[in-house]
Amino acid sequence: MVQLTLPKNSTVHRGKVWPKPAGSKHKEFQIYRWDPEDGRNPRLDTYYVDTDDCGPMVLDALLWIKNKVDPTLTLRRSCREGICGSCAMNIDGSNTLACTTGWGDINGIVKIYPLPHMPVVKDLVPDLTHFYAQHALIEPWLQTVSPTPEKEHLQSHEDREKLDGLYECILCACCTTSCPSYWWNGDRYLGPAALLQAYRWIVDSRDERTGERLDQLEDPFRLYRCHTILNCVQVCPKGLNPAKAIGEIKKMMVERRV
Ligand code: SF4
Ligand code: SF4
Ligand code: FES
Repeated sequence: MVQLTLPKNSTVHRGKVWPKPAGSKHKEFQIYRWDPEDGRNPRLDTYYVDTDDCGPMVLDALLWIKNKVDPTLTLRRSCREGICGSCAMNIDGSNTLACTTGWGDINGIVKIYPLPHMPVVKDLVPDLTHFYAQHALIEPWLQTVSPTPEKEHLQSHEDREKLDGLYECILCACCTTSCPSYWWNGDRYLGPAALLQAYRWIVDSRDERTGERLDQLEDPFRLYRCHTILNCVQVCPKGLNPAKAIGEIKKMMVERRV
């Protein structure tokens, strides 16, 4: 039988149970806590949020806890309306945005972990350095060889429409961190978010480096580790379809060979 040695700090213990608030109505939250500086294993702390005193979203509850119970709870957030992508985390077993997920829609205890299979900086903050490096690798900007036009690069309405469902990505990493292929090969497989953005530039009629962009992806790992499991489609909080974009890139690879 295969024996696996779990890395140090991999076991999550039950942590502190914080006192219930004075109000009569409350909701229970169990939240992953890990501070690399205290040398201890991660733990799940239990908090009770006064539902009469808190906004409707999971992010409201996290900020309520941080402001009123435990200021050491660490998380990222900025826009509070599903635009910046920074509050992505695993809530009730699914990767999503804390600011657009209602705690009232979750039955029972709300369990919250950082995005899976990423190194953790602290508590609910994942280290996205590698994720951003992979995004940079696809060179996500317009590249042309023709002389720069005096005004803007023109594009027909039809060509502009081809970018719908692609440009809206907020780089929250919910898809990439839910992809089993990325879990096992994340060092070399680019993952759904980076590949969706690669396709966004490949199909942009103004871009003139389509061939080079495809060459960059012509690699057994970067593109071809997608096995169409579709977790990425299920979790995307913006309703995008990275698996379809990946399929379109694969199709273009085949078409340019014949
Ligand atoms: S469809 Fe591809 S990219 Fe999406 S989760 Fe599955 S393997 Fe990953
Ligand atoms: S495709 Fe969706 S889930 Fe993936 S990074 Fe973009 S917005 Fe987030
Ligand atoms: S805080 Fe910006 S997406 Fe949630």
